[in-house]
Amino acid sequence: MQHVLYLGLLLLLLFSGCLPVSRGHNITKILAEHPEFSTFNHYLTATHLAGEINRRKTITILVVSNADMAPLLAKHLSLYTLKNVLSLHVLVDYFGAKKLHQLNGGAAASSTLFQATGSAQGTAGFVNITNHRAGRVSFAAVDAGGAPPVNFVKSIKEISYDIAVIQISSVLSSPEAEAPTPAPAQVNLTTLMSKKGCKTFADLLVATGDAEKTFESNVGGGLTVFCPIDQAMKAFMPKFKNLTADGKLSVLLYHGIPVYNSIQMLKSNNGVVNTLATDGSAKNYNFTVQNDGEVVTLKTRVTVATITGTLIDEDPLAVYTIDQVLEPRELFKPEKTRAPAPAPTPVAEAEAPTKSKKRHHASPPAPAGPADAPAADNEKAADDESAAGGGARAGPWIVAAAAVGAAVVMVA
Ligand SMILES: *[C@@H]1O[C@H](CO)[C@@H](O)[C@H](O)[C@H]1NC(C)=O
Ligand SMILES: *[C@@H]1O[C@H](CO)[C@@H](O)[C@H](O)[C@H]1NC(C)=O
Ligand SMILES: *[C@@H]1O[C@H](CO)[C@@H](O)[C@H](O)[C@H]1NC(C)=O
Ligand SMILES: *[C@@H]1O[C@H](CO)[C@@H](O)[C@H](O)[C@H]1NC(C)=O
Ligand SMILES: *[C@@H]1O[C@H](CO)[C@@H](O)[C@H](O)[C@H]1NC(C)=O
Repeated sequence: MQHVLYLGLLLLLLFSGCLPVSRGHNITKILAEHPEFSTFNHYLTATHLAGEINRRKTITILVVSNADMAPLLAKHLSLYTLKNVLSLHVLVDYFGAKKLHQLNGGAAASSTLFQATGSAQGTAGFVNITNHRAGRVSFAAVDAGGAPPVNFVKSIKEISYDIAVIQISSVLSSPEAEAPTPAPAQVNLTTLMSKKGCKTFADLLVATGDAEKTFESNVGGGLTVFCPIDQAMKAFMPKFKNLTADGKLSVLLYHGIPVYNSIQMLKSNNGVVNTLATDGSAKNYNFTVQNDGEVVTLKTRVTVATITGTLIDEDPLAVYTIDQVLEPRELFKPEKTRAPAPAPTPVAEAEAPTKSKKRHHASPPAPAGPADAPAADNEKAADDESAAGGGARAGPWIVAAAAVGAAVVMVA
């Protein structure tokens, strides 16, 4: 019963737009106390960066005054391009005033949210920080070209090793961040994937039934796509060709989940997720997201894939590359190298998986409850226990989010 309560609580948290990972800083609130930064603050909200900042720990926001925002606004960039520029001002490390003035060797380079979202190419998205001899500290985007560096003005707010808000003298200049960006809803998914190492997968989406349309039509409500790199697809093609038309479509749809997950969300939550192939019947087509520090793996009963890169991570759309094709257990058999599952032993606790008295199709979908695991065969029961247990332990909210779908994304 306890995990049901837990799930309920998490759902509540979700609906209030407050994710459990945050340690409590609220950048909107911090800046609201300083009206001279209201323009910057406004655009953090308008670009949805505020939410991403609040979700993260150990970050530094480089803010500029309303007057210093004017030259940037005069460029009339789209909101999506503006988001790239502002995300360059979010360093994914903690730099309080003291640390800035005591930099080891007088200089440091920091990664930024711009870099972390995959929009930046190469070293663009990094910011150089220099502590000059006279005590002046300056900042410059690595791709700033000849633009003069901008200076540290003052510290606005510091919560030790959580968040630092630092005023700088003007907006960081970066041709890469200012390059026009299409809105996520206008991104052509297959073109994006083709250009960035997932051409085989993209071609199959176009060639297979209405797979491409299904993916595209889900972008607006929130979509996360895991595209297997060409090398992985190449090895998988013989198996793919062997599938029925239905099977082909399902395995492709299995690589999308109908909810937006930033890489940060994936890194901080474990659990079972539904996919675009999930149809609410016995064919569940779910898999487990599991993170170990910075590494995020996706586990089906048959394969384990690792996220290797980010093609786009911009609410409501995220596309990541993975090193293996996700093979759903609905279509593929696990390799027989696994240790045989132990025979189910009678367990005392009420919550332990039991032979279900009623067949599963009679009950409504109830995602994360071990008690609901069907016990059609021993191996299946043992595996469902571990999958559902992982979800209940660390973050069934992803499942919940997948279930409630678009509504949640709009809140977040
Ligand atoms: C952050 O603060 C703003 C302004 O006080 C408030 O409107 C918003 O709901 C807060 N966000 C969270 C996630 O608490
Ligand atoms: C950034 O720092 C690196 C290494 O110190 C240096 O090579 C590069 O020229 C710097 N770039 C800018 C724009 O300051
Ligand atoms: C994406 O681009 C491809 C190739 O240019 C095109 O065939 C397809 O129709 C486009 N998809 C959408 C949804 O615009
Ligand atoms: C294709 O299916 C046949 C019949 O089910 C099976 O024997 C064969 O191993 C399969 N080939 C691949 C590459 O999976
Ligand atoms: C995942 O799918 C399997 C069927 O493939 C189902 O038995 C299990 O309950 C599902 N788990 C969750 C948490 O939805």
